[in-house]
Amino acid sequence: TSKTPLNTEEDLQELLLTLPSEKNLDGNNSLYLYQGAWIPVSFNLRGVDSFQRHFVAQDTDIIVASMPKSGTTWLKALAFSVAKRHIYGAGESPLLTTSPHELVPFFETDLYSKDQLPDLEQLPPPRIFGCHSHYGNLPESIRDSKCKVVYICRNPLDQIVSFFQFAHKFKVDDGVSLLSLDECYESICRGAYGQGPFWDNVLGYWKASSERPDKVLFLKFEDLKEDIVFNLKKLAEFLGVPFTDEEEKEGVVEEIARLCSFDNLRNLEVNKNGVRPLSGAPNSAFFRKGEVGDWVNYLSPSMAENFLDIIEEKLTGSGLTF
Ligand code: A3P
Repeated sequence: TSKTPLNTEEDLQELLLTLPSEKNLDGNNSLYLYQGAWIPVSFNLRGVDSFQRHFVAQDTDIIVASMPKSGTTWLKALAFSVAKRHIYGAGESPLLTTSPHELVPFFETDLYSKDQLPDLEQLPPPRIFGCHSHYGNLPESIRDSKCKVVYICRNPLDQIVSFFQFAHKFKVDDGVSLLSLDECYESICRGAYGQGPFWDNVLGYWKASSERPDKVLFLKFEDLKEDIVFNLKKLAEFLGVPFTDEEEKEGVVEEIARLCSFDNLRNLEVNKNGVRPLSGAPNSAFFRKGEVGDWVNYLSPSMAENFLDIIEEKLTGSGLTF
């Protein structure tokens, strides 16, 4: 945490003067390096600070962590469905009428973004939260308690393409045009884009998952696409609520997979026409193509190869590959 709490806008402005900054998508130098993570000032640094200072984890908590545009929405829906399946019967899921981001709010931008601290004590267990912070920047109580952390990552080429598409869709029309992926490519290669560097974000969770497999589950978007049933079972087991033989026979796993599938969620009224209450962002922006390999339509082969070479070098020795 920073030395002084960022209680006011003035505290934040004072801190920003001391941080390295880079060009963000808006063309301004509004991307700041804070505790080793590149954070757009719009993401809410005060929320990040408040979350670190005040959140107290409970052993039954579930934290869905990710770099943005890696499949967070999907994993939130899956984790919610698995962990709360004893409460809601088939056909009764709140996901049918509520965005996964409302059911599983982000610490930094939703819960700790207001001047008043959230009252989270009252929430029924298991509480499920989302988070984009690097592992090393999580509040100690998350790392030290028995709560579970589920991380999702994605092929970095698809992730950056999704990130740029999202920024353009999400954007409020203020007459300022955002920078393109080409214009930001050089900073991307240095890891300077939202919640980057990519390698630091993923490696923190990757290392934690190999050191403490009971604490951190590391998932890949591509693996979920390939075999969602297998990964749902893995998730349920990790969360301490494995599917029973009876549930498996009844097709509960497949039912959750179907409920949370891209086509199903995307076509629900709430995700087609709803908006996020705080930011006003359309829920539909979280559902674009949901495919593996869409980067070929946006990146030249040499850009892709160069970026992957950098990633590979940064991940050397970790055992993690893309
Ligand atoms: P694309 O832009 O490649 O389509 P996040 O949830 O972390 O913001 O990531 C968003 C990405 O996940 C988008 O990728 C989005 O389409 C995809 N996505 C959202 N819901 C999904 C689902 N249920 N299944 C598969 N992909 C999904």
